[in-house]
Amino acid sequence: MNTLIIFASKHGTTEKCASILSKKLTGKVDLHNLKAGAAPDLTKYDKVIIGGSIYAGRIQKEVSTFCSQNLSLLKDKKLGLFICCMFPNNAETQLNGAFPQELLNSTAAKENFGGEMKFSDMNFGEKFLTKMVSKVIAKNNPEIPQLDMKKDTSMIINENIDKFAQLMNKD
Ligand SMILES: Cc1cc2nc3c(=O)[nH]c(=O)nc-3n(C[C@H](O)[C@H](O)[C@H](O)COP(=O)(O)O)c2cc1C
Repeated sequence: MNTLIIFASKHGTTEKCASILSKKLTGKVDLHNLKAGAAPDLTKYDKVIIGGSIYAGRIQKEVSTFCSQNLSLLKDKKLGLFICCMFPNNAETQLNGAFPQELLNSTAAKENFGGEMKFSDMNFGEKFLTKMVSKVIAKNNPEIPQLDMKKDTSMIINENIDKFAQLMNKD
């Protein structure tokens, strides 16, 4: 069984999660970053996993374009969908908004793998947007702790990666 994990990643978290996942899957696994160029030939793969990160509530454009351009091919695969995002209370809504309904309906596994905030790697605009987004999130979810923008933070959810891998490994 051949698996392709296809993803887009801005600061490297989705890439890291895709790599962790690849080591938990059975069979041959190829990884492809959509930011590095066009996707490989999908007909060579039995299983396809698509992942991306959420910025201001939306998945990266490369991921949505890839999904809409390959809908019919993707529907015939064993399919897995994941997002990386920082705010778990919004994860389900963000995941359901990130992928076309036709794909969400035919997926074997869908999950939020959590996220990381690499403030040290962000430009001024990203830091500003992060501040705005976290203010809105904090207002609607008072139980979520405020982000300390002086410290890089990792909140990758390894249990969700494990659960996802188990579902994708089932025959
Ligand atoms: C400018 C900015 C906006 C973000 N907006 C959201 C958001 O709306 N919802 C969310 O859950 N996470 C949000 N995040 C968190 C990212 O999804 C998280 O940092 C993720 O790990 C990034 O993955 P990547 O490095 O693969 O791109 C935001 C991060 C930044 C820097």
